[in-house]
Amino acid sequence: MIILAIDTSCDDTCCSILEVQDSQFKIRSNIVSSQVKIHQKYGGVYPTLAKREHQRNLALVLKESLLRARLLKSKVKSQVFRGPHSAGSRMGQESKIQLKTQKLKEILKREEILYKKLKRFLVKYQKPRIDIIAVTIGPGLEPCLWQGVNFARALAFWWNLPVVPVNHIEAHIFANWLAPISEKSKVKSQKSKIQIKNQKIEFPAVCLVVSGGHTQLILTRRIGNYKIIGETRDDAAGECFDKTARILGLPYPGGPSVAKMATKIKIQKSKIKDIKLPRPMINSKNYDFSFSGLKTAVLYDFKKRPKEVRSSKEYVREMAREIQQAIIDVLIKKTIKAARDYRVKSILLGGGVAANDELRKQFQSKIKNLKLKINFLVPPKNLCTDNAAMVGVAGYFNRKKATKNYQKIKALPDLRIT
Ligand code: KG4
Ligand code: ZN
Repeated sequence: MIILAIDTSCDDTCCSILEVQDSQFKIRSNIVSSQVKIHQKYGGVYPTLAKREHQRNLALVLKESLLRARLLKSKVKSQVFRGPHSAGSRMGQESKIQLKTQKLKEILKREEILYKKLKRFLVKYQKPRIDIIAVTIGPGLEPCLWQGVNFARALAFWWNLPVVPVNHIEAHIFANWLAPISEKSKVKSQKSKIQIKNQKIEFPAVCLVVSGGHTQLILTRRIGNYKIIGETRDDAAGECFDKTARILGLPYPGGPSVAKMATKIKIQKSKIKDIKLPRPMINSKNYDFSFSGLKTAVLYDFKKRPKEVRSSKEYVREMAREIQQAIIDVLIKKTIKAARDYRVKSILLGGGVAANDELRKQFQSKIKNLKLKINFLVPPKNLCTDNAAMVGVAGYFNRKKATKNYQKIKALPDLRIT
């Protein structure tokens, strides 16, 4: 089965081609067009701009993903005008295409830029050898989600393919099914464009999904069975990275910027030793999180420092290290508490924050030090942040929900996993 997967839930335009054979996944292509440069000056995602960029990029990203997966083929004249080359049949074909284009315009009536670009693409290229389209319907930013959904609807209509709706959070969990292959086979894989192989997951599992919009602990007894046992009461962990980075004058997205500054501290011996941030809710009896207090604590500390201190690299580095550590401490403590209480066999991580090197390292060593008999899984870094390959895996496991009635597929910005 070949799946075309699409994700436009936030500020990345993503398309991927995933091949599933004997329950093994192969990423044939995974294209992410980042809008970071556009949103950087706002210190966060600007939804109207993100929507416009998705419209501009989607057809291009689709083309690139098909090309890399070797599924892109131009139409030849004989395919456009099949049958006897009489003027009559040619006119028949032309009016058929006109009718189809009219319908396409209707589906994309709110996305003029997308319509123009997609029409050009669809008229030029053959229907690719794909079986199903998977698209993220939520949760996410509503105007952004609709771009992916309408794009999927348009493709489903033009190519007469079924569409399967995907939950973005479930997709982040499914990124764990795409584990990197060993170093030895990596060389071989580059040639054959196979970068990953399946991961065997033991249940029950607790999944920590940490992204820019979500921080959730999800108990999973088997694929498709989810229970949110804890979540943030205010800001998400990624949001906390982004907002505190902004206070410190570091670029968006905050997670990688804070992490980068935090690593620099090891090289230079810091003189600022009095920064101590709270670890909100770390000892609470539930599995919930709260990160807005941490952000406020950073702001207070920043404001109380003399200007020459707070603008010094030393202060920013020390603060970045403390922010990162405070977030890591809470995430690890709560996840391990949940893992123990529910006697799980695996801990799975997912979402952009799971790309954080320190978080990955400290999780691993904590589990080892505590001698917990728990498998710890975290996707490759490029599959932690938003991508469509994970949407493809989610599409595969939810393939029973696929429909040719594409109008039924709707964006649901507040969609929950349970
Ligand atoms: O999953 P994702 O790409 O998009 C959402 O679904 O939100 O997550 C984006 C979030 C941003 O807040 C970003 O700052 C954070 O993930 N992030 C990181 C790292 N890379 C991305 N946070 C900490 N360390 C990182 N290396
Ligand atoms: Zn995400």
